[in-house]
Amino acid sequence: MKRVITYGTFDLLHYGHINLLRRAKALGDYLIVVISSDEFNWNEKHKKCYFTYEQRKALVESIRYVDLVIPEESWDQKRRDMHEYHVDTFVMGDDWKGKFDFLKEEGVEVVYLPRTPEISTSQIKHDLNEAADAGESKTTHDDIDTDPCK
Ligand code: CTP
Repeated sequence: MKRVITYGTFDLLHYGHINLLRRAKALGDYLIVVISSDEFNWNEKHKKCYFTYEQRKALVESIRYVDLVIPEESWDQKRRDMHEYHVDTFVMGDDWKGKFDFLKEEGVEVVYLPRTPEISTSQIKHDLNEAADAGESKTTHDDIDTDPCK
């Protein structure tokens, strides 16, 4: 069985996340998603999530491509995870291109998948804030010319 692992925050789950998880699962048979804990997000990434770790975990666990969700609590746990979870392939979006090539030393394949354009958690937060400032009652993502199902 080929085991694939990926890492991220996965706050305000969106179709860019789903696309990433679908393509990650297609690289193997068993997909492990390592989600940043609230403490790790705040202390190390200086990000505050809208959803708690438990909420983000429950959402990601409900995705059909995902077999296991575990917490990310430090930068250096990746090397350990590769062995503890018998990982064959490490996957990230290509915003991280080259950053995790050192994991090849642990005997895993490292793959960077192209990000889905025009969508991110930061963008959603930004758009909603702008809409709130402008006093709009409803914001949609319809004006963006991308196929969400690619
Ligand atoms: N991802 C992707 N396409 C997007 C957004 C995210 O492929 N449009 C991937 C990232 O490259 C990463 C994973 O999804 O491998 C989790 O990304 P995360 O940082 O949690 O999501 P973002 O939407 O990028 O969040 P932020 O704006 O806070 O960075």
